[in-house]
Parts: sequence; C-alpha cells; structure tokens
Amino acid sequence: MITATLLTIAAYLLGSVSSAIIVCRVMGLPDPRTQGSNNPGATNVLRIGGKKPAAITLVGDSLKGLIPMLVAHLLGLGPAALASVGLAAFVGHLYPVFFGFRGGKGVATALGVQFGLYWPIGLCVAAVWLFVAKVLKISSLSGLISMALAPLFVWLFWSDKPLIGMQLIITGLLIWRHRSNIRNLLAGTETRLTESSD
Ligand code: G3P
Repeated sequence: MITATLLTIAAYLLGSVSSAIIVCRVMGLPDPRTQGSNNPGATNVLRIGGKKPAAITLVGDSLKGLIPMLVAHLLGLGPAALASVGLAAFVGHLYPVFFGFRGGKGVATALGVQFGLYWPIGLCVAAVWLFVAKVLKISSLSGLISMALAPLFVWLFWSDKPLIGMQLIITGLLIWRHRSNIRNLLAGTETRLTESSD
C-alpha cells in the first residue's frame, strides 16, 4: 500500500515535467504555450521547431508514462496499483504541479502508460494512431480515435476492472482536453500535419 502510494506520487511528479517546455527552452525555441495551438505537446513543437525537437518531446512525454508502469511491474504491484500509477502519470502531464497546472493533452503520455501496462496494448493504439495520421494527416483526430479505442484494447488484453477504469478515465480526460480541436474538426479548420511540419 505504501509502495503503491509513493510510486503514484512519484508518477504524478514525473508526469508534471513538461518535455515540450523543457525541449523548447533548451533548443532556443519559443515557449509552446504561446505559439501555434498553445499546447505543450509534440505536435505543437513540430509546428514550432520541426521534427527533431518534436521527436525528443514525443519520447520524453511517452517515457513519463512508461517508466512508472515498468517500475510498478518490477515491484509486483497489482491491477489497482498499476491503474493508480498510470493515471497519476497521465494527470501529471495534464495538470503539472511544476507549470501552474497547465499541461498538455496527454496522447504521448497515455501511449507510454499503455506500452508500460502491456506492450501489445500500446502497439495496437500506436498502430491506430499511425494509420489515421497517414490517411487523414490530423494529429488530434489520430489521438482521439486511437484513445477512444484504447479501452477496448485494454479489455481485450488485460480485462481487470481497475485497468479498464483507468483507461476510460484517461480517454475521457483526453477527449475533454481536445475540446478546442474537436471544435476545429467540426468547423473543418483543424491544422493538418503536412501544413505545419518541416
Ligand atoms: O497530442 C496533441 C494533439 O492531439 C493535438 O495537438 O497542438 O494540434 O492541439 P495540437
């Protein structure tokens, strides 16, 4: 119980470290919270600085979800603790204590949690993301569709109720954080990946 609680707190703190803000600061790029979509995430870093800083941001944000889940597995924690740790890392990214509780939208960190929980789940979600991105070239829509399907993948591969619950909450919060993107998608004004990437 104490181990699970401590790891949940550590996961939240790690999730609170914004890769996008740090990468942009270190690489001399504008603050992602003030440019493009104003979102501190890999897609917006791609708009601002191109592929290299975006790739570093993507890896950094994914590791925030992956590492705590792998540690939880190594410690032999059960489904409820895994769910608590995964949710904490994700919530840290969305509401980071180090950045005034104004974080990102959570796609990369959720993907890290899914890979850390059980890699085939992450693989399925990543495959859907890549397929939608390849066909429609809209990052937000890829994230929304792949994360909407994620509870199904968790249920198929690892049908413990706490973990399905974790994924349902992650998906719900992620959709909530994408409400401006959803408005743009409905209005037909959402930015396409090819318009903005270098
Ligand atoms: O992962 C974030 C993405 O789904 C949307 O980002 O910058 O287009 O709002 P953005």
